[in-house]
Amino acid sequence: MKMNTFFRFACQLAALPLSGHLTLASVTATLPDPGSFLTLDKAGAGLASLTVSNTGNQVWIIQSSTNLGNWSEVEALKVFNGTYHRNYTNPAGGNLFYRAAYDPARQNISSTTSNALLLPAAAYNYAAPLLPAGFSTNPILAEDNTPGNNPTTDAGATLGRVLFYDKRLSTNQTVSCASCHQQAHGFSDPRRFSVGDNGGAGTRNAMGLSNARWYQRRKFFWDERAATLEDQTLMPIQNPVEMGMSLEALTNRLAAEPFYTNLFSQAFGSPKITTNRISQALAQFVRSIVSTRSKYDQGVASNFTNFNAQENLGRQIFFGQSGSPRATCAACHGTDNFVPTVALNNNGLEFPYVDLGAGAITGSTNDNGLFKVPSLRNIELTAPYMHDGRFATLEQVVDFYSTGVMDNPNLSPPLRVPTAPGQPPGQVLRLNLSSDQKAALVAFLKTLTDSSLASDPKLSDPFNYGN
Ligand code: HEC
Ligand code: HEC
Repeated sequence: MKMNTFFRFACQLAALPLSGHLTLASVTATLPDPGSFLTLDKAGAGLASLTVSNTGNQVWIIQSSTNLGNWSEVEALKVFNGTYHRNYTNPAGGNLFYRAAYDPARQNISSTTSNALLLPAAAYNYAAPLLPAGFSTNPILAEDNTPGNNPTTDAGATLGRVLFYDKRLSTNQTVSCASCHQQAHGFSDPRRFSVGDNGGAGTRNAMGLSNARWYQRRKFFWDERAATLEDQTLMPIQNPVEMGMSLEALTNRLAAEPFYTNLFSQAFGSPKITTNRISQALAQFVRSIVSTRSKYDQGVASNFTNFNAQENLGRQIFFGQSGSPRATCAACHGTDNFVPTVALNNNGLEFPYVDLGAGAITGSTNDNGLFKVPSLRNIELTAPYMHDGRFATLEQVVDFYSTGVMDNPNLSPPLRVPTAPGQPPGQVLRLNLSSDQKAALVAFLKTLTDSSLASDPKLSDPFNYGN
């Protein structure tokens, strides 16, 4: 017999018949939260998938019936982070109807760690990730910005992971760090300008966070306005166009969730929720976004015999061993982390400067147009590119370095033709690459992709969204 599965939602104004030939009477009831809604998709012959979007994180009672007369409870489903997905099957066959109801008297399901979160019984290893040999000696050792008073621990980074994915960190509970730093995109935002909790957008692109742990200048943001990662992590929370929360409201809101007191105890030895602990745990998680399993890493260990001819040509161009004129991308994107050492840089994107970058922070004209260069690791995943996301593809980036670099007073020396000491600065150095060379450089940049990072469970969303 053909199986029919129907849903109706006592809080919704209309019910959704799956087969299309029966419409259920609508039921009027109070919506638990003004922004909440339910959607139902028929995923297969005997499979229906339910999504509850409910920023109030309330409890929904799911009931089923074969005859629309007698209803029995299937489960009480608490939403933990704004949304919840659930699949229902009908193994017995025949008609099956579902409905979802909101009952104010049944809201007391507690948010325990085991209920709200999908965390492993033994914490993942964040404290001591396996690193390539070159990471424990200089120059990379000196790039590590982990401060002595906030070493990464397994429990601390676990708490940081939960915070990173928790929409409670934004006023309307619609945005988490992960909304703009998406794992599948190397923890960057595929939108040119991110959209915040109140629908507003900024003027900068959210960069990827791979290997943010290694940056010798230790400062964060494109204009380096955050002195440390610990300082940085509280800034998006308070930024009115990003998450828009006061820190007092945040600590109160988190303290209302029993699972947080538990996680704070494990991380810091007592359940106290403070902004300092929040910033430290978030920083520990961000430093745990470690990427060391790219084709490039395998190449370092095997003298690049794993690279094809095109990738090796691109590598030589990148490191200034091939091409005429030669520009060393590695002068500014150096070491196996592909970050600069001591300088802030200008790469000649525009003149006059639309965005003053570091100059707007320091007030010095010498800093106008200077920007931080985040690691190029996973650059294939983090489009669009540059502080304003102006380039949609790596091909456009390479075209820019080939012919588009613009002269300006603060253009960094590696992008000028070298001159003798005491002589005026040289001409702008544009690479003028052939199409084969450009393709090779792009192929090389793609060897920095570490696809294991994009799906690593220890960096993924831990909230219990059902099955
Ligand atoms: C609404 C989008 C949005 C949200 C939410 C958001 N970010 Fe960002 N993030 C950005 C943008 C845009 C930038 C670049 C801004 C700039 O440099 O001026 C950025 C930059 C950063 C950086 C700097 C990286 C570097 O190499 O300098 C870090 C770290 C970071 N975010 C972490 C977080 C954390 C942790 C959270 C949650 C507490 C968070 N972000 C929430 C959009 C967002
Ligand atoms: C003089 C230093 C310098 C040199 C040399 C240099 N870059 Fe850059 N690069 C930068 C700076 C600075 C930025 C960020 C600029 C901005 O957004 O305003 C950047 C950004 C990038 C980005 C985008 C990063 C992101 O997260 O959006 C890519 C890709 C890139 N460079 C690749 C290259 C390649 C390939 C070469 C060699 C052809 C190269 N760079 C040479 C300084 C340099």
